[in-house]
Amino acid sequence: MLQPAFSPAADRNKQVILEVLQQVLPACGTALEIASGTGQHLAWFARHLPQWRWQATDAHAPALNSIDARIMQERLSNARTPLLLDVLSPVWLPADTPAFDAIYCANMLHIAPWATCVALMRGAARHLAPGGLLLTYGPYLEDAVPPSPGNLEFDRDLRARNPAWGLRRREDVEQEATRAGLRLVQRFALPANNLLLAWALSS
Ligand SMILES: C[S@@+](CC[C@H](N)C(=O)[O-])C[C@H]1O[C@@H](n2cnc3c(N)ncnc32)[C@H](O)[C@@H]1O
Repeated sequence: MLQPAFSPAADRNKQVILEVLQQVLPACGTALEIASGTGQHLAWFARHLPQWRWQATDAHAPALNSIDARIMQERLSNARTPLLLDVLSPVWLPADTPAFDAIYCANMLHIAPWATCVALMRGAARHLAPGGLLLTYGPYLEDAVPPSPGNLEFDRDLRARNPAWGLRRREDVEQEATRAGLRLVQRFALPANNLLLAWALSS
């Protein structure tokens, strides 16, 4: 069997993120993960939130095999077969896909062009059930919070690798969310200068 890909960072932050999900999510529901990467977050959440059903996705086709291998290896009966999903695609999922109670996206916005933020917000607004939450996790810049040296260095490094990448201003993300019909409802400061932001449909 294929050995699933492993990210040390995802391993470090999966528990603190889970603890926030346990606070903000109801006891059961359906969740869509955008940009699942190695699938470590999804596997951890599926194991510890067993009343939730999880759908992993990623735009990078080879990632899907690895996520699938992890789901099999960990015998996660509440995780569906991963799907190819590029947020930039105008259609994310078949039209008859039921709306999700949660949409989760970690560490994509800064390692992808700004257009993915626009697309994430619009797609989430299309696919969230009323009362559902979009949860975004990662490093952000915020006007009222002095940036950590580590985040500034990370931002410089990202921009050197690809000028279209870089840490996003939380206020810019919020503006895009508003345009899409979402509003920021909770902000959690997590270790290593990361934020978990919870977004809900405005009406
Ligand atoms: C740094 S990894 C984060 C993986 C995982 N969410 C985590 O936190 O460990 C960034 C992920 O974003 C995905 N990605 C990049 N552009 C994307 C897009 N347009 N649509 C969906 N996923 C995308 C990449 O394939 C990659 O898996």
